[in-house]
Amino acid sequence: MPQRTFSIVKPDAVRAGNTAAILAEIAKAGFRIVAIKKQSISKAEAEGFYYVHRERPFFNDLTTFMSSGPLVLMVLEKDNAIADLRKLMGATNPANAEEGTIRKKFAASIQENAIHGSDAEDTAAFEIGYWFAGYELL
Ligand code: CMP
Repeated sequence: MPQRTFSIVKPDAVRAGNTAAILAEIAKAGFRIVAIKKQSISKAEAEGFYYVHRERPFFNDLTTFMSSGPLVLMVLEKDNAIADLRKLMGATNPANAEEGTIRKKFAASIQENAIHGSDAEDTAAFEIGYWFAGYELL
């Protein structure tokens, strides 16, 4: 059964001109794009999205970074989408990311790490609903 996950090409990767290369990696890995939009988000929208991290020391820097420029919001679909996207992304800290992963190729630091992907079914459902209305999921 196909599963859906949520992903973001983060502002560092958009700024560096890596959006198309990252989308190509995602396509090559067999994901179907259910929805996609490029936009800027406010600090408040970033805070709502990363609410689970609100007590973390990096919360303020993270939400400032995520609202620092355009990003690309996506819903992706394939069998085992959540785990497979996490594998394709590589470790949160690019220093620990495996060869061939998106973060190994495109991420600069643990914060400016090029891509986000949902980590579980409940977070995927929350994250998809946070950014997309039902009628946008095609
Ligand atoms: P992401 O997968 O979007 O989930 C939360 C984000 O917080 C993470 O990617 C990083 O961008 C950021 N993050 C996680 N851990 C740290 C950390 N130790 N220092 C700074 N940023 C972090």
